[in-house]
Amino acid sequence: MKGIILAGGLGTRLRPMTLVTNKHLLPVYDRPMVYYPIECLVNAGINEVLIVTGGEHAGDFFKLLRNGKDLGLKHLEYAYQEGEGGIADALKLAEDFADGGKICVILGDNIIEKNINHAVDDFRKQEKGAKVLLKKVEDPHRFGVAEFNADGTIKTIIEKPKNPPSDMAVTGFYMYDGRVFDICNTLKPSGRGELEITDVNNDYLARGELTWANLDGWWTDAGTVPSLLRATNLVAETGANNT
Ligand code: DAU
Repeated sequence: MKGIILAGGLGTRLRPMTLVTNKHLLPVYDRPMVYYPIECLVNAGINEVLIVTGGEHAGDFFKLLRNGKDLGLKHLEYAYQEGEGGIADALKLAEDFADGGKICVILGDNIIEKNINHAVDDFRKQEKGAKVLLKKVEDPHRFGVAEFNADGTIKTIIEKPKNPPSDMAVTGFYMYDGRVFDICNTLKPSGRGELEITDVNNDYLARGELTWANLDGWWTDAGTVPSLLRATNLVAETGANNT
């Protein structure tokens, strides 16, 4: 399976730092933020990776990562997203790279404590569809949130709900079959003007093809000042991407 790291967007919630660099190059404890999603993929046995980025500082990724060999990658590609059209808009740029195969997608500002090998192995065996990882959080209104049926399957996913139907957030680690790009191409911009990954996941759900697993250990994004601080403290305490 190939991996895709989405590291575009303007990082407006981390200004003024992001006026002079890309959000995903900011430090989280002892490493640049983008190292964590790379390590997460490498630890799950994925060593062919595409990074989608954008903005004025995209060239700095090349300086930092070069061909990715030092981080354990066999093959590293880059794609450039014009503007900030949303996560699913960034994902569209990976169609040629994916070449019809299954993919693991991770948001460039997501940091995960433990190895996610089990979930990735389960998806390798899943005949078709998609799989998401959920995590119980204290502030579900900041995320995509799952609403459940009585049997524990997901009924729907709501993006940043004012009244969250549960405290289970959809993390930024997604697994898709090759049809994800057809779905992305049908999307219309949301109220915030973005192509939403939640709409992609709800499309798979409507076909009965979305599975989910609970994410063990801590998980955080690092896209706001409080969450960047939280990520730094968590990494300092326990490390990340541990087995
Ligand atoms: O962190 C998990 C959450 O990420 C999910 O629970 C939400 O369902 C999902 O929509 C997303 O929420 P955010 O609003 O926090 O996403 P944000 O706009 O911060 O973007 C997260 C990453 O996605 C960012 O670090 C880079 C990438 N991205 C984002 C946009 C808007 C792109 O590559 N291009 C983009 O245009």
